[in-house]
Parts: sequence; C-alpha cells; structure tokens
Amino acid sequence: MKEIFSRRSNRKFTGEPVSDAHLEKLLRAAMNAPSACNEQPWEFVVIKDRDIMKQIRTYQRFSAPLDTADLAIVVCGDTKRQQFDGFWVQDCSAATQNLLLEAEYLGLGAVWMGLHPIKRWTDKTKELLNLPDQVMPLGVIAVGHPAMRAEPVDRYQPDRVHFDKW
Ligand SMILES: Cc1cc2nc3c(=O)[nH]c(=O)nc-3n(C[C@H](O)[C@H](O)[C@H](O)COP(=O)(O)O)c2cc1C
Repeated sequence: MKEIFSRRSNRKFTGEPVSDAHLEKLLRAAMNAPSACNEQPWEFVVIKDRDIMKQIRTYQRFSAPLDTADLAIVVCGDTKRQQFDGFWVQDCSAATQNLLLEAEYLGLGAVWMGLHPIKRWTDKTKELLNLPDQVMPLGVIAVGHPAMRAEPVDRYQPDRVHFDKW
C-alpha cells in the first residue's frame, strides 16, 4: 500500500537505462489489472526510439517528460476485444495505474500523459505507431530513473464521500 501514497508523477529522468527485467515487471503489473468481463483488451507499444518520442512531442503539448525519459509505453485498447463498447478506457486506465505503482515500487519514475479522448492526438498516434484501425491509444507513459522526487501528498477529502444518498 505504501506505493499508492508515495507515488507522484515524475517528469525529469537521469538518462540511466531501464533494464529489460524492470520493463517486464512494469508490463506484468499492467496486465494484472481488473477488466470488464476479464477481457483484458490492452496492448502496449514500448518506444525506445528517440525519433518516435520526438514526433509525439510535436503534437501532444504536455509531453515534455519524453525529452529525458528512457522509454515510453503507449497503452492501447483493442476495441474489438470487448462485449460492451467503451469499457476499454477503464480497463486500460486500471492497467496504467498498476504500471505507475509498479514503477514506484521499483524506484523508477513515470508519468501518465493523456491521448484519448483528444481525437487529434489519438489519430496522430495511430498513424505514427501503425496501430490497426480497432486499436485506440489511451495514453503514453514516460519511464526512467527519477532525477528528482516530489513529496507525497494527502488528497483525502472527507466531504467528497456520501453515505447511502448524496
Ligand atoms: C488521464 C491523465 C492525463 C494526464 N496527462 C498528462 C500530460 O499530458 N502531461 C503531464 O505532464 N502529466 C499528465 N498527467 C499527470 C497529472 O498531471 C498528475 O497525475 C496530477 O497533476 C497529479 O500529480 P501526481 O501524479 O504527482 O500525484 C495526466 C494524468 C492523467 C490521469
């Protein structure tokens, strides 16, 4: 549980490589997420090519963390692998959060950068990464060894909790 409360977004990285063993742990954690009807509609594109990261920088305005990230992981959902339209978003979000928590556990830094539902960003990403028509990119996660760490924050707000009825 510690990682849930210590995790913060990391946007500056040292340049030290992320090992393949750590990369696999990140992906294992992501794929252990819950999903609607256990359909596991996720697909992951691991990007190590700096040119591809630079191209994402040109259209996703808030993707500066890619400048120093060792790698990026684009979390995608296969919309054909779901019985009920739209649940891929929650499924892939759960996978993303699992991945962020595993990164924290491993002492890595990471930040989730959104793509869906900004159509311009998802269209560009689909083209750039050669994604099949039915595969939608949810977001891109920059991963690396953290150059700095933000302090944990407590966001508990008791007034946001409603018992029985609002
Ligand atoms: C759906 C989503 C999209 C996000 N997009 C970006 C982004 O494009 N660029 C970025 O630097 N951070 C992005 N973030 C990270 C948030 O800014 C960050 O989680 C929030 O400010 C809370 O800070 P913390 O992660 O350090 O707790 C995104 C987070 C989520 C959940």
